[in-house]
Amino acid sequence: MNVEKIMVVGAGQMGSGIAQVCAIAGYEVLLNDLKQEFVERGLGVIAKNLSRQVEKGRMSAEEKQNVLDRLTISVDVNDAKDVDLVIEAAVENMEIKAKLFAQLDSITPEHVILASNTSSLPITEIAAATKRPEKVIGMHFMNPVPVMKLVEIIRGLATSDEVYEVIETMTKKLGKVPVEVNDFPGFVSNRILMPMINEAIYTLYEGVASKEAIDEVMKLGMNHPMGPLTLADFIGLDTCLYIMETLHEGFGDDKYRPCPLLRKYVKAGWLGRKTGRGFYEYE
Ligand code: CAA
Repeated sequence: MNVEKIMVVGAGQMGSGIAQVCAIAGYEVLLNDLKQEFVERGLGVIAKNLSRQVEKGRMSAEEKQNVLDRLTISVDVNDAKDVDLVIEAAVENMEIKAKLFAQLDSITPEHVILASNTSSLPITEIAAATKRPEKVIGMHFMNPVPVMKLVEIIRGLATSDEVYEVIETMTKKLGKVPVEVNDFPGFVSNRILMPMINEAIYTLYEGVASKEAIDEVMKLGMNHPMGPLTLADFIGLDTCLYIMETLHEGFGDDKYRPCPLLRKYVKAGWLGRKTGRGFYEYE
């Protein structure tokens, strides 16, 4: 099974980052989203990132052009008919993902691997929407994708060893480090990260310390590059809440209950950096 051409579904922050690293690694990439303007915005981010690499002397102008030439815009999911791998980075909603995977299953030839960048939804359930569960796998990239080395590779209940190996090899070709995990709520990354963030929010909610103090403790005391509240704003508070709810429901354990303050901010539309306000305010 050889991967040469990839479709990335979803041209948002994660999808465009994934498309960028795939194109840099030499793959032909179709960047797909529902509307032309979404894909153009994603391509704009990629072009800006590549220009920075050229300015810093890490990439030649010619290489940048070659990378851009490997990227093609798509607004029709039927374009997946001649790719070898689809990496889905659409919204975190099981109904939408199940529908999309069923559709991709009917469009793509038999050999095509269908991967999801979901941050916490069960790969096994996504796979069950298709007739090829052995070819469905999780590829969980971290934000910002061009910078972060990890890709969590999640095996669904039926994922085959062959498919796992293809994706592991391909991840290494992207210059990333694959780590194998099984399909349980939050996988490894968010099972550990999100309760820490949620606890930081409880610490603020209970008046133990100010937001700045909480972040400072974790940055200077634990050498985290960002404090947990800054990181929550970076990830998006709606995403944090969604993942906590997935853990809470998936394990049925109250230790994963989302902090009421997190719920309140999400209800207020304070979703973090992307809306200009979360725990902090942004320009
Ligand atoms: N896209 C591309 N490159 C980016 C970038 C982006 N969005 N953001 C930063 N960079 C690059 C910068 O260009 C810079 O590159 P150079 O060194 O080549 O100049 C480098 O990253 C460092 O950036 P900065 O100097 O601006 O800032 P920094 O040193 O504070 O690093 C950071 C920024 C890499 C984001 C760092 O703060 C960090 O590692 N934060 C933690 C990120 C993290 O935990 N991510 C995981 C989130 S959880 C997740 O993704 C999973 C989930 O399911 C929720």
